Amino acid sequence: MAMERTIIILKPDAVTRQVCGEIIARFEKRGLKIAGLKMLKLTDETLNIHYAHHVTKPFFPRLSKFMKSAPVIAVVLEGNDSVNQVRKMCGATYPLEAAVGTIRGDYGMSMNNLIHASDSTEAAEAEIKRFFKPEELFNYTAANYEWVYAEEERKA
Ligand code: CMP
Repeated sequence: MAMERTIIILKPDAVTRQVCGEIIARFEKRGLKIAGLKMLKLTDETLNIHYAHHVTKPFFPRLSKFMKSAPVIAVVLEGNDSVNQVRKMCGATYPLEAAVGTIRGDYGMSMNNLIHASDSTEAAEAEIKRFFKPEELFNYTAANYEWVYAEEERKA
């Protein structure tokens, strides 16, 4: 399983409800490593690119207004199969349908669904570049690395 990076965006509802620390802690506890982190206010320019596949949908104006309503926190997470594992930890898009135990299933009650996560390795690569400059991403070894991964699962 490849070591890879993915990005999550903690949305305005997560920031204003002050649950970002709890949510980030879930990923850290799982063994995912923070490779980059920043708080920012999203703009129309970024949102029109980030949600290009939703721009023509009827809910887009509401989504765009919501995403600009407070700052967001973007986090790059690194780990084996991270794109897939982080998506599973977020749960179904609509929190009322998300399994209990997932982030949206535990924290969400509406389409304001707390967190965005890249849905493929290609999307992760593009989204990381959208939000982070190369020098804002960091390589280091987590102290628990050899305990999180079995020997054969560690990168060469
Ligand atoms: P996200 O995973 O960030 O991707 C697109 C977002 O659009 C999604 O989470 C929801 O927040 C939002 N969204 C998707 N479908 C709807 C909908 N039918 N009505 C309102 N918002 C939606």
